Amino acid sequence: MNYRKYESKKDKKAVFRILNECGWTDDEKSKYLNIHLEQGRTIVSEMNYSVEAMAVSVIGEMKYQEEMMKFSAITGVVIGLIARKQGLAGQITAQRIALDALDGAEVCGLSYFEQGFYNNLGFGNGNYNNQISFCPSTLNLTKKVRIPVRLTKKDWEKIHKNRLQRMMYHGAINLTDICTKSEMNEAKNSFGFGYTDEEGNLTHHIWLTGKGKENGPFWVWWFAYQNYEQMLELFALLKSFGDQIKLVSMVEPYNIQVQDLLSKPFFYRGISEKSKYENKIKASSWWQFRILDMEKCLKKTHLSCEEFKFNLEVTDTIKDFLSKDSQWKGIGGKYVITLGENSKAEKGMDNSLPTMKASIGAFSRLWLGIRNATSLSVTDDLKATPKLLKKLDSCLRFPKPGYDWDF
Ligand SMILES: CC(C)(COP(=O)(O)OP(=O)(O)OC[C@H]1O[C@@H](n2cnc3c(N)ncnc32)[C@H](O)[C@@H]1OP(=O)(O)O)[C@@H](O)C(=O)NCCC(=O)NCCS
Repeated sequence: MNYRKYESKKDKKAVFRILNECGWTDDEKSKYLNIHLEQGRTIVSEMNYSVEAMAVSVIGEMKYQEEMMKFSAITGVVIGLIARKQGLAGQITAQRIALDALDGAEVCGLSYFEQGFYNNLGFGNGNYNNQISFCPSTLNLTKKVRIPVRLTKKDWEKIHKNRLQRMMYHGAINLTDICTKSEMNEAKNSFGFGYTDEEGNLTHHIWLTGKGKENGPFWVWWFAYQNYEQMLELFALLKSFGDQIKLVSMVEPYNIQVQDLLSKPFFYRGISEKSKYENKIKASSWWQFRILDMEKCLKKTHLSCEEFKFNLEVTDTIKDFLSKDSQWKGIGGKYVITLGENSKAEKGMDNSLPTMKASIGAFSRLWLGIRNATSLSVTDDLKATPKLLKKLDSCLRFPKPGYDWDF
């Protein structure tokens, strides 16, 4: 597969044709997509002298424990209807990832259309996120709401700044300002509210879609707050809409069980069942993740357990999608892994140590804390002796990753 960088002047028409064929947009003027394609890391591939494949990424960061990892976010992959099932999607995505890895990305993530496809490129499922829908007037908050400021798409710079200042947990993602700007332009009916400090800086805010619908639902696209008092103030603001708005939906904020804040959640769930305003909680894993640089990832791993070592034989099938001359060919191979305060990965094998065999997707899930080693040995591609699994279970104890930037 040949590929090249996207050039707006030359490629825009063909790229919007394939975007239209996949049902994502029929609007060549879409601010959201144009910003994203032009300022993102977009590559295209031609078939029959026309662009039929496109993959785009942005480089952001992911919090891992207290460290920050360079994060490649695959934000779009699309193939024209005349070019499907030729292997183009797998190849162009692999190429995009290889280029990001060569530019120093340590980890990579994406939202997936179906489980299975990106697993072939070395990805493993992220953890479940809860999507909760509730009637805002049932929020059990007594605090009187302060008057917020209205936020519009023109405020994208201060909104982005405030997003970067938000409380971040293990697994949280920061993307670039172009992502905030383009996401804010994605839906015509989006809007926001925030609170400022005495100097006028945004301290916490909320960005929603659903404006113009008389009774909602409103969808909370994101929250940004620096402490829980600010988070509760944003919930109190949502409650203040409750005389009119019948439903608000959101991905639960990290570490917060929103049901705790609701009165009579089962009663409202029962009476709203199967309605337009159904109160419910739905859990699913909508993102996938993989390690791109084993040595750098392990170097940033700090564990409080007693130091121990094991061999890791890791398979990485992304290599099958890359051209022979690709300078990055995945990270499959043999490593000696040391876990402890100063963890590391070194190429090689030590015959005196126990060995784990795993796909890079399964090992990435273990490293990030999606599931423990025993669980992955049952449902994913990871094998080790019961003794090593037990040791890993007691050593790798992470909080649930808080992947909180939808893309
Ligand atoms: C998804 C999409 C990019 C795939 O494009 P494509 O060029 O046909 O994909 P490829 O040819 O590289 O791969 C297709 C292969 O993957 C396989 N595959 C597809 N979904 C799979 C899954 N969930 N699990 C395992 N394999 C899967 C197919 O069966 C096919 O295998 P085959 O060639 O042996 O029949 C394309 O359908 C598309 O553009 N869809 C609309 C946009 C979209 O959803 N993009 C992805 C956003 S995350």
